[in-house]
Amino acid sequence: MDKNRVSALRTPQFPGAVLFDAYGTLFDVYSVGLLAEQLFPGQGQALGLLWRDKQIEYTRLVTTSRRGPARESVYQPFWELTRAGLRYACKRLGLTLSSEHEQQLMNQYRHLSAFPENREVLQQLKSRGIATGILSNGDPEMLGIAVRSAGLDGLLDHVISVDSIRQYKTHPDAYALGTRALGLPASQVVFVSCNSWDALGATWFGYQTLWVNRYNLPFEELGTQPLRTGPNLREVLAFFTP
Ligand code: LAC
Repeated sequence: MDKNRVSALRTPQFPGAVLFDAYGTLFDVYSVGLLAEQLFPGQGQALGLLWRDKQIEYTRLVTTSRRGPARESVYQPFWELTRAGLRYACKRLGLTLSSEHEQQLMNQYRHLSAFPENREVLQQLKSRGIATGILSNGDPEMLGIAVRSAGLDGLLDHVISVDSIRQYKTHPDAYALGTRALGLPASQVVFVSCNSWDALGATWFGYQTLWVNRYNLPFEELGTQPLRTGPNLREVLAFFTP
């Protein structure tokens, strides 16, 4: 074996970039549940869960369906699906959603706080010269406002929205936006998500994955596991530790 090959084997091959999911991963959607509880006492948690589930169900519905013989796309931006999910969840729970309450809840969704460890983790990645970005179902306007109001601008090299291709994660074309923007193969990129379905989709796509299990949930039961699991974003630094 030649000398160069031996030293290549000894040098740890760290990933070249980290992509983060947005909602639930970088941005804490918990505050939406708190407001929901204030507006609908005793129903906040149920509303928060149903709202989120419906929002994600709608992303899958519009990605996999087509309308009429021309097979037109039925895509709607994430902001609209979020509103539709809220309206559905309220109807399902028998709650009357006034336009004022709808506006308050949607406004809260726009201005979510970041999890406390985010800034330090992003700064550490930046200081090590690792490219960072968001790859999210959120539309560009939502993501721009969320990044600014959480004070994360300047710490992310890429903010990538699936809106440009009108297909939501877990469609492979959505994950491919990340590798294209970074100019790296998926195997050299870490993808971080708090959503188990997203961590699974990203693992299937070929990313090195970290599932952030903030709420002590079981992982999906489909026979594939994320590369790593951790309680918060700090775990991403383990990918860069020899
Ligand atoms: C996102 C949602 C799915 O940011 O959390 O893509």
